[in-house]
Amino acid sequence: MNDDILSSLYDRPEDELLQEIARLKQRLGDQVLILGHHYQREEVIRFADMTGDSLKLAHQAAQTAVPHIIFCGVHFMAETADILTGAAQQVILPDPAAGCSMADMADDAQVQHCWQQLSSVIDAEAQVTPVTYINSTAALKAFCGEHGGIVCTSSNAEKILTWSWQRREKVLFFPDQHLGENTAMRMGIPDTEMIIWDPALPLGGNTEQAIARARLILWKGFCSVHQMFKASHAATMREQHPGVRILAHPECSREVCETADFVGSTEAIIRHVQEADGQQVFAIATELNLVNRLRLQHPQHQVFFLSPMVCMCSTMFRTDPQHLLASLQAIANGEDGNRIIVPDAHKAAARTSLQRMLDLA
Ligand code: 13P
Ligand code: SF4
Repeated sequence: MNDDILSSLYDRPEDELLQEIARLKQRLGDQVLILGHHYQREEVIRFADMTGDSLKLAHQAAQTAVPHIIFCGVHFMAETADILTGAAQQVILPDPAAGCSMADMADDAQVQHCWQQLSSVIDAEAQVTPVTYINSTAALKAFCGEHGGIVCTSSNAEKILTWSWQRREKVLFFPDQHLGENTAMRMGIPDTEMIIWDPALPLGGNTEQAIARARLILWKGFCSVHQMFKASHAATMREQHPGVRILAHPECSREVCETADFVGSTEAIIRHVQEADGQQVFAIATELNLVNRLRLQHPQHQVFFLSPMVCMCSTMFRTDPQHLLASLQAIANGEDGNRIIVPDAHKAAARTSLQRMLDLA
């Protein structure tokens, strides 16, 4: 994508850009599909043909035959779409710098090293199912594909853990400690059967005995946005608004999820508010753009942001009308744009672990 053209778009008034996006999108018609994650800002998500959480968007990518997909989300989501689409289809991430800090917390070399260390004390290949949260690189999805493992999202983690434990006695869950821990806790797995794996320490900071005993090995990773919500925020909310219902994303800490009335993916949180009767008070622990949208869409309810601080996903926010327009222009001009291409070395094995997940739906 030409940087000069992109920067010139910042000189133009926003309403002109929005009109241009609408015009170009209509002109390209069924040549382009815009997918939008729920955390996208308003000026962008209004152009999405389909919106969703990570699981829904992965299903949509797997089902479409449209030649150009513009993925308004973050890098791992565009990679997932590239893995699940055909060779003739092109997946574009409007801003290639839109990453995910959690996905960056586990890389291929660290996970390979972890597996080697586990293999030095147990028979990892026979005893451990590796499970990667979809918020991870294609290399880690490929690792899971190669080692009998699977991908999960925040909306199917329980189903995926059940599947995994049916196959092998232990699960290595990366990169998000909290999704794994919160899901296992709801499934009744005791603390004594969970350990944390710190990739910076030998044996992840565990003894051989603790590894032998563990059923769930949780990678020490987290989302920098969701870790900002605290149980004390929930306590303050309950004091100020008796009867408030607290809704939390499972990337929040265990303390927050334990105090919440409902824990679910972005899609599940939206559905929960949409289906609520009468006039209710909600305090929501997930990204700010989504909470603000719910507040506007449901004026019959009172919708609060759980934290007194601004918890925004800065990388989701990188996709703005300028980047979206530049992506549409690149397609119209027959250019590659910011195309995301997963290397062949990872593609087939990553598809294996993703397909195992999609087949469980
Ligand atoms: P969802 O799958 O719930 O949309 O979550 C994705 C994500 O990155 C949340 O931080
Ligand atoms: Fe990643 Fe957190 Fe942003 Fe979700 S909210 S994309 S986990 S950094």
